[in-house]
Amino acid sequence: MRTQKKNKTKNSPLIVPSLLSANFAYLADEVKEIEQAGADWLHLDIMDGHFVPYLTFGPGLVEAIRPITKLPIDCHLMVDRPEDWIESFARAGANWITVHVESTRHLNRLLQQIRELGCHPGVSINPGTSVSHLEEILDFVDLVLVMSVNPGFGGQKFVNGSLEKVKKIAKMRAGRPFLIEIDGGVSLDHVSVLRNAGVDAFVAGSAIFGQKNRKDAIRKFRDRIGEG
Ligand code: DX5
Ligand code: ZN
Repeated sequence: MRTQKKNKTKNSPLIVPSLLSANFAYLADEVKEIEQAGADWLHLDIMDGHFVPYLTFGPGLVEAIRPITKLPIDCHLMVDRPEDWIESFARAGANWITVHVESTRHLNRLLQQIRELGCHPGVSINPGTSVSHLEEILDFVDLVLVMSVNPGFGGQKFVNGSLEKVKKIAKMRAGRPFLIEIDGGVSLDHVSVLRNAGVDAFVAGSAIFGQKNRKDAIRKFRDRIGEG
């Protein structure tokens, strides 16, 4: 019998299923099932229909699922003016709040506010944004999220240049404690090479929540990453 949880160390890779690919008609069951299946965090894609073309969840959903899971809730804000929303998400029970460099003017202040609200601040870049935009804020984040698709929808194809971006950010990390998270089109085909490049947290919608047997999907992720 596998004892994944016990064997985990501080640097173990994190498997982070994205709720966007869950069955919304059974949300509570879906959240409980993914926790049982061995997920490390739960990823929530917050979309406003402006920064990205689609519309998803608000703080009310975070508040609703907070009492039913112990999993850290990883909120990925794909919204214009994220500064208007961070407090509501923090109060609702988010643990990690990630904002896009493309979405706000005063990024440094915003990241510090997220921390003051008791959450881990993260920053994300779209596929078309250079890693150079991260240079000045790496001391202020706990997480860098590399978008490996253009944000807005699940089930898209992994953008290949994303691997090179991860390598560059891993170099820029230079001993800082932030995690590197990858999100978009992540499948079993990429995870091993991404891990070797420096990825700590793997977000997956279709490849985990989209599968019938989520436990098996997570186990395969871990095996392929090399933790199994
Ligand atoms: C896309 C979202 C992703 C999405 C990933 O804008 O940020 O988190 O749920 O879904 P897959 O893994 O299906 O690409
Ligand atoms: Zn996401």
